[in-house]
Amino acid sequence: MTGWDRGEEMGSVRWAFRCGSWTPNRCDWLFAARCIQREEKDRIGQFVFAKDAKSAMAGRLLLRRFVCERMGVPWTEIRLERSPRGKPYLAAPLKVHHTHASCSVRVSSDSGGAWSFNLSHQGDYAVLAAERGVQVGVDIMKTTMPGSSSVPEFFRIMTRQFTAHEWSVIQSASSEHQQLAAFYRHWALKESFIKAIGTGLGFNLQRVEFHLPSEPLTQDRVLRQTKMHLDEEEEADWIFEESLLDVDHHVAVALGPADKADAARHPSSLPPPTTFTLLSFSDLTASASPLTEEDPAYWDSFKMKAEAPQRQTHTSK
Ligand SMILES: CC(C)(COP(=O)(O)OP(=O)(O)OC[C@H]1O[C@@H](n2cnc3c(N)ncnc32)[C@H](O)[C@@H]1OP(=O)(O)O)[C@@H](O)C(=O)NCCC(=O)NCCS
Repeated sequence: MTGWDRGEEMGSVRWAFRCGSWTPNRCDWLFAARCIQREEKDRIGQFVFAKDAKSAMAGRLLLRRFVCERMGVPWTEIRLERSPRGKPYLAAPLKVHHTHASCSVRVSSDSGGAWSFNLSHQGDYAVLAAERGVQVGVDIMKTTMPGSSSVPEFFRIMTRQFTAHEWSVIQSASSEHQQLAAFYRHWALKESFIKAIGTGLGFNLQRVEFHLPSEPLTQDRVLRQTKMHLDEEEEADWIFEESLLDVDHHVAVALGPADKADAARHPSSLPPPTTFTLLSFSDLTASASPLTEEDPAYWDSFKMKAEAPQRQTHTSK
């Protein structure tokens, strides 16, 4: 893990774990399973594919590591729950007050504003973004060829997810692969907003429209110039941070004004953006303590899982 930069000192957390290349051994997997809440362990145990189980496990460890190391809550006292729409929030310890709507939390004695955090896992990574005094949503998308259709057919099926302006930007890219990259870039932006407000499915995606800057998105830096229009008006209160974890993985972090009760900060007063720090499995579990007994059958069931479904891809790349 690399050292903190200024953003991290100020409270910005951007962590990534490469679950795609994680091949846990028996000891790692059983220890990880002991260090998460029982109902999450059970949920993860039910995934058919190892890929999904590993990314969900990494997500739980990222969340608990964040609450433990940055919010200062001992690992075994952390109680994470989900809003009715699935967004995780910190429900205990009781000295921490949570706000259901934004799923943010506030430590009574803190002056830096409530922490808000969010998680995403897709492709080869699990990522966590957290910030104080603003609402946070994060989404990662890997650029992949559609599984069972051509790119134009895939775009046709997805027509309603984007506006005419967004489609014109996506389709003006020079190759099919570039068009897909632009598609997933917009997708991550939209999802990051939806995840910040916590609504999940059911939000009319045509209401939000993204306007990308002319500056290209390149690896090793964070772009903050992308603007969002909501119901055809520019939303100056929202900031979007975009980065590439590698050439295929777009990440978007949405930062918006917190609920009034928690409003310690306006997104425009945030410190300079922080790039994602890649963590190892040892980093993830460095402050972990077991919550449950070892369950050898959990490993037996994990090692029987196929890594991922077999995919038939169109190879027009
Ligand atoms: C569930 C949803 C919030 C995100 O799902 P997703 O993009 O498939 O998954 P991600 O990996 O990015 O995020 C999953 C994580 O988000 C968190 N999450 C779940 N529900 C959430 C919600 N309502 N709000 C915010 N975060 C949520 C959880 O931590 C979850 O991981 P976990 O269950 O392992 O803890 C929801 O927005 C969804 O299903 N969206 C699809 C809608 C769509 O059609 N989008 C098209 C965009 S163009």
